[in-house]
Amino acid sequence: MPDGTPEAIVAGHICLDVIPQITHRIESLSPGQLIEVGPARFATGGAVANTGLALHRLGVKTALIGKLGDDPFARRVLELLRRYGPERAEAMHTVPGETTSYTIVVSPPEADRLFLHCPGANATFDESDIDSDHFDGAKVFHFGYPPLMENLYKDDGESMGRIFSLAKKHGTTTSLDMATIDPHSKAGKIDWRAWLNRVLPQVDIFAPSIDETLFMLGRSAEKDSPPNHIDAQTLRLLSEELLAMGAAVVLIKLGDRGAYLRTTPDTDRLRLAGPCLSHDIENWSGQEIFAPCFQVDCVGTTGAGDCTIAGFLAELLKGGTPRQAATMAVAVGACSVEATDAVSAVPTRQEVQQRIDTGWQRQDPTLDMTR
Ligand SMILES: Nc1ncnc2c1ncn2[C@@H]1O[C@H](COP(=O)(O)OP(=O)(O)OP(=O)(O)O)[C@@H](O)[C@H]1O
Ligand SMILES: [Mg+2]
Repeated sequence: MPDGTPEAIVAGHICLDVIPQITHRIESLSPGQLIEVGPARFATGGAVANTGLALHRLGVKTALIGKLGDDPFARRVLELLRRYGPERAEAMHTVPGETTSYTIVVSPPEADRLFLHCPGANATFDESDIDSDHFDGAKVFHFGYPPLMENLYKDDGESMGRIFSLAKKHGTTTSLDMATIDPHSKAGKIDWRAWLNRVLPQVDIFAPSIDETLFMLGRSAEKDSPPNHIDAQTLRLLSEELLAMGAAVVLIKLGDRGAYLRTTPDTDRLRLAGPCLSHDIENWSGQEIFAPCFQVDCVGTTGAGDCTIAGFLAELLKGGTPRQAATMAVAVGACSVEATDAVSAVPTRQEVQQRIDTGWQRQDPTLDMTR
């Protein structure tokens, strides 16, 4: 298992999932009811645990930075992270007086899941929660889920911009993932276009899902086709807009269709994109690649997007080309859906590569890139 100076830093949203065992059907939830349940299972959730631990499993030395309260749930989170080595918990910030973010997952058989979510310390995260010492030797800085972190979305991207500036100052290639935004929540009322215009110039790799992209750019499914029917032309327009806002590389995750990669033709921008991209400007400029999924038995998609990003970053760290990185991204995404949780089915990068090299079948492409 990797240890020593981290090559990758994953920061942002982390929470504890509390999952009571429910084996019987629940007809309805109403006040005054008592519903007997079994023992609770605990799991870490959020981008820090998912992308961070997936990178670790792939063999990348990774530091995890998230904010916790000084409470029993924090101790549980730290214990779960330490199962992957004591170093995984070293950069976590425990703050007395804060509450550790948690989600109670009510998941009875044959019914939709219900989530009770406490944003807790994720809502107050800012650059003061990041100790600059952790940047020493790091080549990649990935941040996940600012739409679930109030401090980072409420100021038109100023605080988020400061975090990425810090990461750029330390010479890393920066990467950003978003999260589903509930249009009726506080985050749903934000001018996300203004936010992206402020933040993306500091983001080298922007890796949202298609639904997040459509929402943030104010393009509803009515104006475009529904997300699962998005065509190459629409992806071209969306990615061009995100590149024009300042990102150097855009990776749009397309759920069970795979992923779409677009890179800037601007070689000056790539020169500023940190060690993972600036060493090979010729290969990384002006690329467009559609990567269909690898064929697997899909058991659960929790954290699949986070693992897809981990695959992409792991390949970048070893100097991969855009096509190799896009392939590794969807390959690790496919591994992730082979288990109910996010990371337990993710093997080492070499094992994923071996599976690719020994005839792992892809799904038929669902995008015609010639149009
Ligand atoms: N059925 C599947 N078979 C193979 N790979 C899959 C399947 N579903 C998803 N994937 C992979 O997982 C990735 C997850 O993409 P998705 O668009 O769901 O990201 P996301 O919305 O960010 O996910 P998350 O819910 O983890 O945040 C896809 O790009 C794809 O590579
Ligand atoms: Mg996601």
